[in-house]
Amino acid sequence: MSFALSPGQFVGITGRSGSGKSTILRCIWRTNLPERGRILYDSARFGLLDLAQATQRQMLYLRAFELGYVSQFLNALPRQTARDIVLKSALEAYGADDRERAEAETERMLRHFDLDESLWELYPRTFSGGEKLRLNIAAAMIKRPRLLLLDEPTASLDNASKLKVRSLIEQLKAEGTTMLGIFHDLEFMDGLCDHEFNMQEGMMA
Ligand SMILES: Nc1ncnc2c1ncn2[C@@H]1O[C@H](COP(=O)(O)OP(=O)(O)OP(=O)(O)O)[C@@H](O)[C@H]1O
Ligand SMILES: [Mg+2]
Repeated sequence: MSFALSPGQFVGITGRSGSGKSTILRCIWRTNLPERGRILYDSARFGLLDLAQATQRQMLYLRAFELGYVSQFLNALPRQTARDIVLKSALEAYGADDRERAEAETERMLRHFDLDESLWELYPRTFSGGEKLRLNIAAAMIKRPRLLLLDEPTASLDNASKLKVRSLIEQLKAEGTTMLGIFHDLEFMDGLCDHEFNMQEGMMA
């Protein structure tokens, strides 16, 4: 497949289960290495870069400073408390010398996603699916990445939490974040999504 995403745009990928939607995001995040093809990304640091050819070092830099990814499945949560997971992201984004701001933003974000204060100092291993997801979203979004990859970030959330995700997506969009997302119900993103890329049709609508 071939498609382009312009700066500031929000594109939704649709298509049936198993059609390769998540694979596209994993190739951009480079947890999958494509055998062929190019993924051209205009990096702030490296300039125009083919992510299929980028070095591991470049990918680590991009993951820390330019890209954000909310995965569909939450199996790789680190052994850190919920607060530390989000704070680590915030410190990467704001720099270690702005710790006060990073801490304040971390709390704002945890509150925004209704993560109860009693959970902040716990390891997320025992969190419910929705709590884990909200934590993951908070950690990815707090960085204000240039390009945010979202793999069904609202799938297991109740309606109130979905609305919070939507409002944060709106905010990020207003700030110029480029986003590529997979949504179960794209209608939920109505008015936010600039284009839809359908896997079966292989083109942008
Ligand atoms: N590493 C891999 N090696 C071989 N096949 C894979 C690999 N990863 C995924 N696949 C297969 O590629 C296809 C696309 O998977 P993908 O996860 O991208 O689907 P999807 O469109 O996101 O589906 P869903 O809507 O169910 O999440 C599936 O048939 C899957 O089994
Ligand atoms: Mg998927």
